Amino acid sequence: MKKLLKTMAVCGTVIIAAGNISVAEETGEALYTAKCKMCHGATGAGDTPIGKKQGVKSFSDPEIVKKSDSVLFDITKNGVGKMPAYKDKLTDAQIKSLVDYMRSLQKK
Ligand code: HEC
Repeated sequence: MKKLLKTMAVCGTVIIAAGNISVAEETGEALYTAKCKMCHGATGAGDTPIGKKQGVKSFSDPEIVKKSDSVLFDITKNGVGKMPAYKDKLTDAQIKSLVDYMRSLQKK
């Protein structure tokens, strides 16, 4: 019986660890589609109904292109104006991958 419990505990740990890996591997693109697209639009142009209403600028706007990665990171983490803060919802690593994804949208 003790041995069975031990086996179950080990299996449980493995399952939890696997779950964490899949979160860590979420790409900036998947996160963006799930959490940001409804306001910022698929191409980052801010051309969604909510985006237009809230005055969201395109990520390709020169004003935003010249902002540093750490500024984009801070805005996503702490929010600004109507932009919601994600510090309780996303890890720093996830925000970092989102910054990379926003940069890739700017190049298009
Ligand atoms: C509810 C709508 C909404 C959602 C969802 C949203 N944003 Fe925003 N975002 C805004 C608005 C509105 C602004 C402009 C804020 C301002 O300057 O007043 C903004 C601004 C920004 C800026 C700064 C750009 C600038 O104008 O200087 C960044 C970076 C940003 N958002 C990233 C993100 C990321 C990454 C996500 C997803 C994790 C996200 N946003 C989700 C509404 C949203």
